Amino acid sequence: MIIQQTELQYLPPDLKRELLPKHVAVIMDGNGRWAKKRGLPRIRGHKAGVSNLKDLVRCCHDWGIEALTVYAFSTENWKRPRKEVNCLMALIRRFLRQELEEMLEKNIQIQFMGDLTELPPSLQQEISYSMKVTRNNTGIRFFIATNYGSRQEILHACQAIAQKVQQGLLQPEQISEELFTNHLYTAGLADPDLLIRTSGEMRLSNFLLWQMAYSEIYISDALWPDFNRVDFHRALSAYQQRERRFGKV
Ligand code: FPP
Repeated sequence: MIIQQTELQYLPPDLKRELLPKHVAVIMDGNGRWAKKRGLPRIRGHKAGVSNLKDLVRCCHDWGIEALTVYAFSTENWKRPRKEVNCLMALIRRFLRQELEEMLEKNIQIQFMGDLTELPPSLQQEISYSMKVTRNNTGIRFFIATNYGSRQEILHACQAIAQKVQQGLLQPEQISEELFTNHLYTAGLADPDLLIRTSGEMRLSNFLLWQMAYSEIYISDALWPDFNRVDFHRALSAYQQRERRFGKV
């Protein structure tokens, strides 16, 4: 069934509400290639990517997805040219300023995951403010992974747990999956049911490695700025056709 973008304001009728993924994670890949194809600087691709992200957040709100996590900036992304890094920081800051009102209106809770202490102070302030004012919102939980790296997150959790053991607050045998999970940035958030990566790339790129042990993976060939509601619908349809066994038969 081919559904047009204009028909997708509400949850498409062929999708079963009770089988929707509760938590969707997205690797928004292909901004640079999108710009290159148009003879534009890479930065223009990121701008188009942000504009597309706004629609995905609205779409999750319209269709009833409970949690959305997007990979905005990885710990490895500092190796990009200075100008591009600055642009990405500025885009996140601008997004928070411009979208906060709509987030409040739509009851969206904004959260960040990653080592925020290394971000520019003005961005850190904007992040703290947006998290504070949306803290009690009960609609979608929207997580923006910024200066995030999964291995680093796992190491931090190990260090925090080791310290508790050293201080005698915890016995090694008490270290369970649940306890470990509670030391990650995502403590209290259910694992992603579905990971979408755009631009045809098939890698996890150090994203939520512990949390995605059983996530379904959907790769879209669309470049991130072109990934629209039609593509999201395809991803959700594919997800609903999968049989999730979690290691059982
Ligand atoms: C990957 O595309 C994309 C990124 C590294 C950045 C994604 C970030 C945004 C869309 C902006 C985030 C902003 C907010 C508000 C959360 P690429 O540049 O690696 O593309 P390429 O592989 O085609 O070069």
